[in-house]
Amino acid sequence: MSSNRQPIVSGNWKMNNNHFEAIQSVQKLAYLLQKDDFDAVEVTVHPPFTDLRSMQTLIDADQLRLKLGAQNCHSEDKGAFTGEVSPLFLSKLGVQYVIVGHSERRELFGETDEFVAAKVAAVLKHGMIPILCVGETLAERESGSTLDKVKRQVRIALDKRSNEHVKSMVIAYEPIWAIGTGKNASPADAQDVIAAIREEVASVASGPAAQAIRLQYGGSVKAGTIAEIMRQPDIDGVLVGGASLDPTEFARIVQYRRHAF
Ligand code: 13P
Repeated sequence: MSSNRQPIVSGNWKMNNNHFEAIQSVQKLAYLLQKDDFDAVEVTVHPPFTDLRSMQTLIDADQLRLKLGAQNCHSEDKGAFTGEVSPLFLSKLGVQYVIVGHSERRELFGETDEFVAAKVAAVLKHGMIPILCVGETLAERESGSTLDKVKRQVRIALDKRSNEHVKSMVIAYEPIWAIGTGKNASPADAQDVIAAIREEVASVASGPAAQAIRLQYGGSVKAGTIAEIMRQPDIDGVLVGGASLDPTEFARIVQYRRHAF
């Protein structure tokens, strides 16, 4: 990866870990990670909504360098949206990163590209950073439409966003067939798609925005696979699901540099 983009490793816990378990997990992670790790790599953790207040309190009290993230939010600040969570409320809880358009939201809960774009705008409006997820199904990959799909997802989500906002963002390429399946895109395949995403960002926003935006790979990332992924020139980090639930494994992922070179 390029030296002027800070690597970012994110743990998406999905619907796992209640607030007691979250505290234990983060305490263990904080114990395993050293100052050098945080100097080199930005680390974000995305627990379920019900854990956020406990995690915020722990991060503040122990002055942890972990960044707090959320897994989703609504596009509106408030209103008659039963069961939804406002981005404004997340910013008040010290959330800094919000995953937007995860494939599970798109595929299981019917989120459209347009709704995802509205959420990206809302997260940025409240001073947080969206981690925009894009990726293709196995059928789409086999029919050769991977690049069309992910470029469209990127284009719609970034449309009308300022260059400054685009620069601050993170995009995670998560091939749907690689999520939770133990299969992962080869590092070279992931690099090809991610390089195409960077080109798309250059055409929707600007060249400098495309150089600054950080691009992650996600899908069955493990401690044993991260080093090769991070050697790819356009890959700046990873979005980790299952392996982030084990603090020891997640810490080893964050520490990829120690066993990589
Ligand atoms: P897995 O690492 O469990 O495949 O999940 C990836 C993912 O969806 C992260 O958002």
